Amino acid sequence: MKPREIRPGVSWVGAVDWDRRLFDALIPLPDGTSYNSYLVKGSEKTALIDAVDPSMRHVLLDNLAHLGCQCIDYVIANHGEQDHSGSIPDVLARFPNAEVLASPRCKAMLVDLLMIPEAKIRAVSDGETLALGDRTLQFVHAPWVHWPDTMLTYLREERILFPCDLFGSHLATTDLYVTDEGQVHEAAKRYYAEIMMPFRNHIERHLARLKEYPMDVIAPSHGPLYDRPAFIVEKYRGWVFDKPGNKVVLPYISMHGSTQRMVEHFVDALAHRGVTVQQFNLTVTDIGKLAMALVDAATLVIGTPTVIVGPHPNVAYAALLANALRPKLQFVSIIGSYGWGSKAVEQLSGMIPNLKVEVLGPVIARGFPREVDLQAVEALAETIAQKHRERGFV
Ligand code: FEO
Repeated sequence: MKPREIRPGVSWVGAVDWDRRLFDALIPLPDGTSYNSYLVKGSEKTALIDAVDPSMRHVLLDNLAHLGCQCIDYVIANHGEQDHSGSIPDVLARFPNAEVLASPRCKAMLVDLLMIPEAKIRAVSDGETLALGDRTLQFVHAPWVHWPDTMLTYLREERILFPCDLFGSHLATTDLYVTDEGQVHEAAKRYYAEIMMPFRNHIERHLARLKEYPMDVIAPSHGPLYDRPAFIVEKYRGWVFDKPGNKVVLPYISMHGSTQRMVEHFVDALAHRGVTVQQFNLTVTDIGKLAMALVDAATLVIGTPTVIVGPHPNVAYAALLANALRPKLQFVSIIGSYGWGSKAVEQLSGMIPNLKVEVLGPVIARGFPREVDLQAVEALAETIAQKHRERGFV
């Protein structure tokens, strides 16, 4: 896609990746993504804010040529991850006089990851400003959203924030700005769940600090721009600060129907008690959907059969994922079955040390669940519903 003007002299020059379906060899991208790069021309100097994934370097360079860009004085690297920094060496090859500006941590990463000569990079401090003539950029260090190197760049005169990954969404679209808030809410929540949720405490701090920066536009490095910044800022506030909801997330596997029978009984028992359940059969689940469900769930219940004494490997993967994402869960339990012996509960419990939760008694059936097992499942549902009521989860 050709460059898009945001304000006179301020242009989107990035790349839309419609076909990418996996990020970090881990995260599903059902709607593709974009790598947003921005050219800011001042009366004296020109800056490029972030680059693009190296697979799309030609798009960025074509866009700069399309704008007749003869000179770039500064390349602002908000973040060292390669989907934004990976084509900086190509930009430097085309514009050899450009100086790269980055946070001190990002500078080290650009040297280590991309082998950019140290002398080409200047570390900028938190709050430092860069005059482009009639325009001023200000750098705001914002570590851990989601790497330790991240900084945000603020264009003072136009009140545009370039926050790199923060507030982003993996969404390929021809729309420069958000046009369908429902669609972007879904994509941004998925992005938050997969990328940002483990760093909720840091986001809390950064959100407070951003109140000092009035914003007309938020221009992230993935997905469409926000010309109504309150939309995404309020969503983030909700995801970070709100209490969890009256909701159980239930990832499970069943090999021969025993765990399936328990899951069905359990879901029905919770639903009859007014508790929302999102169940995920891990043989077919989009793992991003599971991550999204964890954003505002109060309780995680893991359903597993026993495989060689332990949990099914897919279930172990889901437990490790939940542990890594650190959602605001309050309760965890396990239901499942075994044939001749099981250490599944002990093994799964050891996989979730990051979750600061109350562990509710597991229900594990020997063979196909009998009436006594289903009654135990029913009792677990009652306990969960009661605890949610006591905590005021609605
Ligand atoms: Fe979009 Fe952390 O890179």
